[in-house]
Amino acid sequence: MITNVGLLGYGTVGAGVAKIISLEDSLLSQKVGWSLKLARATVRDLDAPRAFPPPPGLLTTDPRDVVGNPDIQVVVEAMGGIEPARTLILKALESGQNVVTANKALLAIHGVEIFAKAKECRREIFFEAAVAGAIPVIRTLKEGLAANRILSVFGILNGTTNYILTRMTQDASSFQDALFEAQSHGYAEADPTADVEGFDAAHKLIILTALAHGVLPSLKDIQVEGITKLDAKDFDFAGELGFTIKLLAVSARNPEDGLLEVRLHPAMIPQGHLLAGVSGVLNAVVIRGHASGDIFLSGAGAGMMATASAVVGDIIEIARLSHSAPAVGKPSLGWQSLTSERIKSPTEIYTRYYLRFTVHDRPGVLAAISGVFSAHNISIAQVIQKGVDPTGSVSLVILTHLAAEKDLQMALSETQKLGVLTAETKLIRVEDFARY
Ligand code: NAP
Ligand code: HSE
Repeated sequence: MITNVGLLGYGTVGAGVAKIISLEDSLLSQKVGWSLKLARATVRDLDAPRAFPPPPGLLTTDPRDVVGNPDIQVVVEAMGGIEPARTLILKALESGQNVVTANKALLAIHGVEIFAKAKECRREIFFEAAVAGAIPVIRTLKEGLAANRILSVFGILNGTTNYILTRMTQDASSFQDALFEAQSHGYAEADPTADVEGFDAAHKLIILTALAHGVLPSLKDIQVEGITKLDAKDFDFAGELGFTIKLLAVSARNPEDGLLEVRLHPAMIPQGHLLAGVSGVLNAVVIRGHASGDIFLSGAGAGMMATASAVVGDIIEIARLSHSAPAVGKPSLGWQSLTSERIKSPTEIYTRYYLRFTVHDRPGVLAAISGVFSAHNISIAQVIQKGVDPTGSVSLVILTHLAAEKDLQMALSETQKLGVLTAETKLIRVEDFARY
């Protein structure tokens, strides 16, 4: 017996999938019980160089050679972008084909429609590679931890930004230098906006939220802040305070009010926390289930073979399912239906804060700022003042206790009127994992 696989896209991910299916035939046959075979692969440019050369006749520019082709049982969407990927996936499902996709942007934006179509057509759609590359986080949430109420998921979901933050931590590199280095190693795209502004990780966070809580929030409902405003100075202070700075994805149910917090922003985390040790391009997640306790997963979040590992794992699972029983259109996210639920707005969130004011070094400045904080019910945990520059400005670092973002923002805007600040104030949230 043979399962025929059709690829939409033969770039980084598609070529990796082709390489595993072509070179690991006997291994995969042992696992599935029959052969996986690459049937066709759709590309734009038949003559472009390929990381794994395709056999003659595999490539085509016509997606109809893959989608709706009755000889192909599994369609792998590895082209990226929204269209034509969305339309092709819907057509494949309607044609009775099962689908594997690595496209987190598409699932985050059109997931409701695509998962509903899979259910309606009684087909499978698998997407392990869409979040955290090789790490089996989707399967862990959907199956391994199915018995749990998921209390929280914390993650480092973008390799490019984690690489940049690691360089800024270890070598005091500036953001621009670290970004340049990430680009020269091929980690960051020529246009790195989706990575450094947090959108790539936010798409992954939306998918994780659907798996963990049965709610697929839209991008506009969640707090997204990238890493472009981080300054080398704050990495020094973070180290001194016992923290590491990470771009942290959080999807957690607040135990006090029962509401969901879904946010992605730079965060100071204790140096001893598992996520603090996740360096370079690695990704990681910590999932807390009510029965399981904490589960930590870490590994390669991107790259040709790491991503293909997840895609081919999905193909194998579909091949096993569809030959052992007819496809039943199992709920793709592990929930019979998605619910809609209000996500806490950024102003409703409580965290601790690291604030770095740049101020005139003169008497009364600290008293003025702490007076504003006190008026807004913000309690100060620690203060550091350091390093007068030639203009007479000094860094004044304040670490707060737990405070409401709404109060903090009001206090910050009042400090601007005190006439003591000489530069923009830097704010980084301090994460307290134990609260969830
Ligand atoms: P890529 O290297 O740019 O490859 C895209 C492939 O799709 C190319 O072969 C391209 O053809 C083909 N393609 C694009 N638009 C097409 C169209 N309209 N018609 C026909 N073919 C089209 O992208 P990638 O890095 O493999 O990423 C693919 C997907 O996987 C994306 O959704 C991405 O977010 C996701 N992903 C990637 C990684 C990673 O490490 N790269 C990790 C996790 C998830 P040509 O080659 O002819 O241009
Ligand atoms: N651009 C992503 C990252 C890889 O840097 O992690 C694909 O998800």
